[in-house]
Amino acid sequence: MSTAASTSSLEAGHRIVRIEREARKLRVIWGDGHQSVFHYVWLRDNCACAQCGEAGSSQLRIDGLLKMSLDVAPLSAEVDRNGRLTVSWSPDRHVTSFDPDWLRARCYSRAERERRRHKPIHWGKELGNRIPNADFAAAVEDEASRLEAMILLRDYGFVVLRNVPPTPDGLEKVAGMIGYGVRDTYYGRVFHIKVEDNAGLKLSSTQSTILPHNDEGWRAVPLGIVMFHCIEASRDGGGQNYLIDGFRICEVLRAEDPEAFDLLSRVTLKFERSIPGEVEMRSEGKIISLDAEGNVVGLRYPIRFRGPLDIDEDLVEPVYAAIRKLIGLINSGDFDVTFLLQPGEALAFDNHRLLHGRTGFSGRRHIQFGYVDRDDFHLQYRMLARRLGRHADADIVLGRGALA
Ligand SMILES: [Fe+2]
Ligand SMILES: [Zn+2]
Repeated sequence: MSTAASTSSLEAGHRIVRIEREARKLRVIWGDGHQSVFHYVWLRDNCACAQCGEAGSSQLRIDGLLKMSLDVAPLSAEVDRNGRLTVSWSPDRHVTSFDPDWLRARCYSRAERERRRHKPIHWGKELGNRIPNADFAAAVEDEASRLEAMILLRDYGFVVLRNVPPTPDGLEKVAGMIGYGVRDTYYGRVFHIKVEDNAGLKLSSTQSTILPHNDEGWRAVPLGIVMFHCIEASRDGGGQNYLIDGFRICEVLRAEDPEAFDLLSRVTLKFERSIPGEVEMRSEGKIISLDAEGNVVGLRYPIRFRGPLDIDEDLVEPVYAAIRKLIGLINSGDFDVTFLLQPGEALAFDNHRLLHGRTGFSGRRHIQFGYVDRDDFHLQYRMLARRLGRHADADIVLGRGALA
């Protein structure tokens, strides 16, 4: 399966047609008609010569910023015969030379920042049985196939991997591919969902239906990528996984009830989770996380674990109404995608975006699951995209998730 949103074009070949000096900025006119404006202070700061130091490389980056005048200005600026922007700085004639592709990829115009931002593919019931999927064996063998699988996870927030060995180490193999191994938690690394007589507070170890939720959304940093790996499916066709795109839910909420959307993206709630002798967690966060431009970048849904509201008096009643509206949308059944994971299949999904649940079943069923950190997935993904020369994919600005 391929994706429409793939941004695979190599960002090369940008040509500077003209530059215009302004009082504190340099205007760059590009071959494709786009115009960038770079402040002199920004250009001077981004000199990566041996004296100034490459980004992140050394203490020079701190010293240079402190020594640099905020009123720094060029003595001269020109496009040399190799097409590079070359600036000679006042007062010391220090020379900086910029690769045009490097410069264009960092143009901070609103349009270019928007273009670099990852655009998730929002989905709902219309996805039907077109479940994003990839062959795990091919992904292990071939880096281009692996990147395609990772792009599905990036864009849809989930991917089903086929041909994962239905053995205990299968989950570890998936974790090693999309991250750096299974993350440790207070209940260990790999958790086995099997029916247990003494399930206690662990709903997953029963045969019951589990309503949509995200895992441990009550953490300050919720768990990142969830992996389910099927060892044994139920015989009765129950125990199906269902997934809901939290971003779609948020956009529906924004359209239907802007006040509720606004409150849930602005008001910090307190969460509590306790399993006596095992977990004692208190944290806080917002249900909907937005980026600086107001795009939804995360949804957490730890409503079961809400603490008593501890907010401004005026907000108490509106927040209750907003939470009820959100629950109504999530439980409506209007947004679910449902499928039965078969032995040898693994599902990986973004726990900062998707909600998941399962239908009830009878008899036996064995799913093993674990987590990898979201940052580690992004790191593996970027390194792979870079190795394959897919620079636009490697440089894409990914949503930070359900943080803050
Ligand atoms: Fe869960
Ligand atoms: Zn320099």
